[in-house]
Amino acid sequence: MENSFLSTDGTAKKSDFISACRNEQHPRVPVWFMRQAGRSLPEYKKIRGTGSILEAASDPERAAQITLQPVERYGVDAAILFSDIMVPVHSIGFGIEIQPGIGPVVENPFESIEDLKRLRTLEPEIDVPYVGEAIKILSQECPVPVIGFAGAPFTVASYLIEGKPSRLLEKTKALMEQEPEIWDSLMNQLSDITISSLNHQIESGASAIQLFDSWAGLIEPEIYEQKVFPYSKRVLSSINNSRVPKIHFGVGTQPILHLIAVAGADVVGIDSNTPIDAARAKLGNEIAIQGNLDPEICLEPIEVVEKAVSEILKLNNNNFGHIFNLGHGVLPDTDPGVLSHVVEMVHSHKLLERKDG
Ligand code: CP3
Repeated sequence: MENSFLSTDGTAKKSDFISACRNEQHPRVPVWFMRQAGRSLPEYKKIRGTGSILEAASDPERAAQITLQPVERYGVDAAILFSDIMVPVHSIGFGIEIQPGIGPVVENPFESIEDLKRLRTLEPEIDVPYVGEAIKILSQECPVPVIGFAGAPFTVASYLIEGKPSRLLEKTKALMEQEPEIWDSLMNQLSDITISSLNHQIESGASAIQLFDSWAGLIEPEIYEQKVFPYSKRVLSSINNSRVPKIHFGVGTQPILHLIAVAGADVVGIDSNTPIDAARAKLGNEIAIQGNLDPEICLEPIEVVEKAVSEILKLNNNNFGHIFNLGHGVLPDTDPGVLSHVVEMVHSHKLLERKDG
C-alpha cells in the first residue's frame, strides 16, 4: 500500500502523513512540528538529564522515549527522531559541543586543507549505533511514521567553518569562493556522511526522511545553484529506498524553491515568509508542501494563532499534498497547549474528496 508505512512486525499501517507526502487522497491534513521533541515540553525536561543533548541522544531508550512524547501529548501525525544534525560529524570526532541557548560550537573550526583529514567515512553501525537502535525501538512502539533526518552538507559545513551559529556565514562564503577545491572536497565528504546516515536510518525503520538545509537561504541563488545544490541533489538521489518520502527544507528559500524541489524532494518544506499559494505557483500542484505557521505566532494570543492556522489551510485550497508544520522549529517559550490546539484545528479541517477519485 503506497499510503502506508511498515512497522517491523510487518504490518502496514495507514498514514495521512505518508499519503500527503505522495499527494494522494486522505481524509484530514496531517501535522507535525519541526523541533517538536524536547524544547518546551515539561516531560522532556524531566528525563532529559543534565549532560549535553549529544549524550541524551546517544542513549537509545531515552531518545526513543523523548521522540514519543510529542506524539502522545499533541497527537501529531509523525514523530521526528530525537537527535541533532551534528551527531554524525560529532561521532567521527570532529570536536563538537552543543551549548544550550547557543547551538553547535566547534572547538577547532574547519580552516584549511589539513582539516579535511579530520573527516572520514561514517560507519553507522560503529559510529552511531544508538541512532539505529532508537529507530528500531520506535518501529515497535510508535503509532505514527518516524522521520529520520540529517543536516544538508551546506548547513553542516557552515557550522564546521564558522565554529558557532552565524547569520552572515562570512567564513563559509569566503571558503567556497576562494578555495573551490577544498570546498568541493569538504562538501563531497559531508555528502557521503549524510548519505550513510540517512540510509542507516531508513534501514533501521525510518518511514520518511527530512534533509535540513536550514541556512540555504542565506546565500545568493546563483551561488546556491553552483556551490550547494549539486551536493544536496546527490544526497537525495542516493537514498536507497524509493518508497521513503524525502522532505527538503530550508529557511528563506523562496528565490531557490524550484531548486529545492528538483534536488529530488517529494515534499518541499517552506518557511513562514513563503505563502503556500506562491510556493505552488512556482512548483506546480504535483509536489507536496510542508509548512508554514510562523513559530513566533505561537507566542501570540490564541485568536491570532487560530486566524493564522485558518489562513494557511485556506491558502492550501484543499490540496492533498500538504503537511501542516511550522515555518521553522518550535521556539523554547512556546506553550505546549497552543501546539495541542493547532493540532486540533488542523485535524478538524476536512479535506474534500477528489472528484477524479
Ligand atoms: O524535532 C526535534 O526536536 C527532533 C530533534 C532535533 C534536534 N535538533 C534536537 C535539539 C532536530 C530535528 C534538530 C535539528 C537541528 N539542529 C537543526 C535543523 C533544524 C533547524 O532548527 O533549522 C539545526 C540547525 C540544529 C543545530 C542546533 N542544535 C541548534 C541551532 C540548537 C539550538 C540551541 C538551543 O539551545 O536553542 C541545537 C540544540 C538542540 N537540538 C536542542 C534540541 C532538543 C536543544 C538543546 C537541549 O535540549 O539541550
